[in-house]
Amino acid sequence: MYINDIEIRHGLALAPLAGVSDCSFRSLARRFGAEYTVSEMVSAKALCYEQRCRRPVTEERTRTAPLAAVLCEELPMAVQLFGAEPEFMARAAQLLESNEYRGACGEVPPSVIDVNMGCPMAKIVGNGEGSALMKNPLLAAEIVRAMTDAVKIPVTVKIRAGWDDGQINAVELAKRLEDAGASMICVHGRTREQMYAGHADWEIIRRVKEAVRIPVMGNGDIFCADDALRMLDETGCDGVMVARGAQGNPWIFAEILAAMVGEAYAPPALKERFAVALEHARLLVTQKGERTGIAESRKHMAWYLHGIRGGAAARNAVMNATSLSDIERIFGELLANNP
Ligand SMILES: Cc1cc2nc3c(=O)[nH]c(=O)nc-3n(C[C@H](O)[C@H](O)[C@H](O)COP(=O)(O)O)c2cc1C
Repeated sequence: MYINDIEIRHGLALAPLAGVSDCSFRSLARRFGAEYTVSEMVSAKALCYEQRCRRPVTEERTRTAPLAAVLCEELPMAVQLFGAEPEFMARAAQLLESNEYRGACGEVPPSVIDVNMGCPMAKIVGNGEGSALMKNPLLAAEIVRAMTDAVKIPVTVKIRAGWDDGQINAVELAKRLEDAGASMICVHGRTREQMYAGHADWEIIRRVKEAVRIPVMGNGDIFCADDALRMLDETGCDGVMVARGAQGNPWIFAEILAAMVGEAYAPPALKERFAVALEHARLLVTQKGERTGIAESRKHMAWYLHGIRGGAAARNAVMNATSLSDIERIFGELLANNP
């Protein structure tokens, strides 16, 4: 599939995941086959305000800019913005495109800017942002129009099926967003009311795909290769975005890619699993410093330990880890007990 002229060969993508899809995780997802990745959601307003701050902006003080940083080797990837004000969204898009802003900006601009119209969190929705925009299609389209007028790089949108069962409007919204200049739509087949519970409705993905000319990515409940192939088959979507299925399991992309091209797939041995988990923790510490890196590693390590014999006790232990050596010891002991 293509987003404008950007090729995503098999349409295999890592979804945006706040607190998860940072540079370290994206690099592992890419290594194992993700052809396209999306950053954590970034507040357009915070990015703009950080630029206006009167005090000198040091790299340590900027909290938002680092979330939007992109390395050369990560392309093609999208940075996802959230916000409800067209001016801020357009300005933030310009900052990203120019890749010249205060704070830790990356080596290159993102290939794509994605707009979050799916976040269900109360504090986001309460500001009219994220999935609240599904209830305001005119504003949603105005935001996309302001952004596509402001930048040359493609603007894409990630939406949900609708707000709740009584307001399933993904098809109408997708058409409006296409008219406003969006280059791709990703549909998460749940409503805002569902949050992340229940099943994703893939039928709505199919209906959106039939209604628009731009490419459509499907999202929701892909936890193995078979799920991905079924979604492509049942919805006709151009690509798939994997979210929770990749947590603690970046190999899911290798599994899906193998199935897509009809090759056999052998899951990694425990030793390799653990080696990658530890590499992930080391990357987090290198990129964010020991304190934040270890704090953020804990949930990832717990995911890597999922379904492994003796994993429950090890999961408790990683939750109390305060250093890399703690984590290395916990994984080392578990490996020794799982010959
Ligand atoms: C921890 C977490 C963080 C998420 N952060 C974002 C985000 O920043 N932007 C976004 O558009 N969706 C976000 N999502 C939604 C996912 O991208 C995805 O739409 C959803 O999890 C459904 O896909 P899945 O069934 O494959 O998990 C998040 C989901 C989770 C579980």
